[in-house]
Amino acid sequence: MQSFALDTIFILISLSSLSIVVSSSKPLNPCNGDFLHIQAYKQMQNQTNTTQCKKLSSLQAQFAWNYHKTSHNQTQLNILIGTKLIASTGWLAWGINPDLPRMVGTRAIIAVKVPNQITPSVNTYNITKDIQLGCKLQPSGIDFKVQNMTVVDDKDVGFFSVFATLVLPQRYNVSSLNHVWQVGYCVDGLEPKMHEASLGNLDSKEVLDLETGDCQNIGQHRRHMRKVHGILNIIGWGTLLPIGVIVARYFKQFPIKLDPCWYYFHYSCQVVGYILGTAGWGLGLFLGHESKYYTFHSHRVLGICIFGFTTLQILAFQFKPTQEDEYRKHWNVYHHFLGYALLVMIPVNIYKGIKLLKPDNITWKWTYNGILVLLGVVVLAFEILTWAVFLYKKCCKKTVEESSPRRVEIEEDSKGQTNEGSSPRKTEVEE
Ligand code: HEM
Ligand SMILES: *[C@@H]1O[C@H](CO)[C@@H](O)[C@H](O)[C@H]1NC(C)=O
Ligand SMILES: *[C@@H]1O[C@H](CO)[C@@H](O)[C@H](O)[C@H]1NC(C)=O
Ligand SMILES: *[C@@H]1O[C@H](CO)[C@@H](O)[C@H](O)[C@H]1NC(C)=O
Ligand SMILES: *[C@@H]1O[C@H](CO)[C@@H](O)[C@H](O)[C@H]1NC(C)=O
Ligand SMILES: *[C@@H]1O[C@H](CO)[C@@H](O)[C@H](O)[C@H]1NC(C)=O
Ligand SMILES: *[C@@H]1O[C@H](CO)[C@@H](O)[C@H](O)[C@H]1NC(C)=O
Ligand SMILES: *[C@@H]1O[C@H](CO)[C@@H](O)[C@H](O)[C@H]1NC(C)=O
Repeated sequence: MQSFALDTIFILISLSSLSIVVSSSKPLNPCNGDFLHIQAYKQMQNQTNTTQCKKLSSLQAQFAWNYHKTSHNQTQLNILIGTKLIASTGWLAWGINPDLPRMVGTRAIIAVKVPNQITPSVNTYNITKDIQLGCKLQPSGIDFKVQNMTVVDDKDVGFFSVFATLVLPQRYNVSSLNHVWQVGYCVDGLEPKMHEASLGNLDSKEVLDLETGDCQNIGQHRRHMRKVHGILNIIGWGTLLPIGVIVARYFKQFPIKLDPCWYYFHYSCQVVGYILGTAGWGLGLFLGHESKYYTFHSHRVLGICIFGFTTLQILAFQFKPTQEDEYRKHWNVYHHFLGYALLVMIPVNIYKGIKLLKPDNITWKWTYNGILVLLGVVVLAFEILTWAVFLYKKCCKKTVEESSPRRVEIEEDSKGQTNEGSSPRKTEVEE
């Protein structure tokens, strides 16, 4: 009954923290920071009061535009795209695709940042299937006019941006324009080389309505599920399971004995952690199955191992030999060994997962760092307490020279701790 109540509390806490993080994604994302101070942006705003600006969903890019119809049923579109390009070389691309929101088929403007050149190069490129297969990316004409291409490389704030005026033929629908952006850090002379294949680099596309600024983000649903996947795993495997271990280690007998409370706590943590973690894991498998562009092998394999081993741990709990059974000793060694191995594998895989979000990984990383530091501090405190109590009892015993039977009892109690669980429980010492 008590464990059921604890389960419920844990589920409620977990779900409420889950909903806070998930619901914090805002529909409207206005530009901010250094982007608003770019001269080209101010000029665009000066030109017309219809200039709109939004943060794009990945690669920390921001995008401003304004447009008007020309007399020939064409659209004159001014765009400004910018991002932090921290490295001394790299490239920033923006383009539109008449067919689908994707890389192949995009008519792109690419600005290349070169260290020793005063003015970075900017040109138009027709991104074909061959480019994706690794052919040289050469400047070429594209099927509409592009004017006023300028690169703004603000070295003080590290903001790199491109301005251009496009004259779009009727074929491009301004109320559902497929646009794509990309950032790469690899350059060969003036030739942009393959960008990274992190999640942010593969998600960098959307269908934009130039009039309202609404966008239909292609990967939005998936990104949402990715977030839930991450949160479930960080809470399940990454937080509750370790807390369960801490409870088992320090509250079973030594330095603090909370019998049988520790067991309910341990069991609840492990079960709730397991349920949340498994849900996150399943979602991860689904996400991996869904994406046709990429598989992250080590993250996947490690995830499957973690799930398998945790399942073994939970199953082993059901078949735990009784205290008196001689197998109990071996069972304990096995259960503890696998438990500690999991405690290493889980953070490793969580960091692997966070790395995939690069470069949008900062918040995730520091959140999880925080959780680990907190757990680490708790462990350290209990470890010190354990040794303090242990040494204190030991030295007390020596000075009193086993004068009272109560002291002997304490000593046996602490012995029982050192070879955990292998000896029958001692009666509790009243302090
Ligand atoms: C420099 C030469 C380039 C090469 C060799 C290249 C190669 C690739 C490859 C191989 C993928 C698939 C990734 C995977 O399956 O893991 C990909 C995806 C992607 N690339 Fe590129 N790329 C280049 C330039 C560009 C440029 C200039 C843009 C933007 C205008 C761009 C935008 C994208 C996008 C949005 C994706 C996600 C998949 C899609 O929507 O098609 N890439 N690229
Ligand atoms: C914007 O226009 C105003 C006058 O309309 C002018 O004073 C200001 O300098 C302009 N700013 C830029 C950045 O061109
Ligand atoms: C923009 O300016 C024009 C006049 O120049 C005005 O008629 C229009 O209402 C303004 N639009 C907005 C959104 O402020
Ligand atoms: C512009 O398009 C409309 C219909 O979309 C057509 O009726 C009109 O003739 C076109 N004008 C020019 C100049 O092409
Ligand atoms: C750009 O590439 C597409 C194929 O992706 C091709 O149909 C189109 O004609 C090319 N445009 C130019 C100007 O080379
Ligand atoms: C871009 O070029 C067009 C035509 O050359 C010109 O009319 C327009 O004013 C230019 N825009 C800017 C912001 O320089
Ligand atoms: C442009 O896109 C909108 C919204 O998707 C659609 O309603 C409209 O019919 C499209 N127009 C053309 C000319 O394709
Ligand atoms: C997060 O992304 C940055 C690039 O923006 C990278 O330098 C860093 O190594 C990444 N951190 C992790 C833990 O993957």
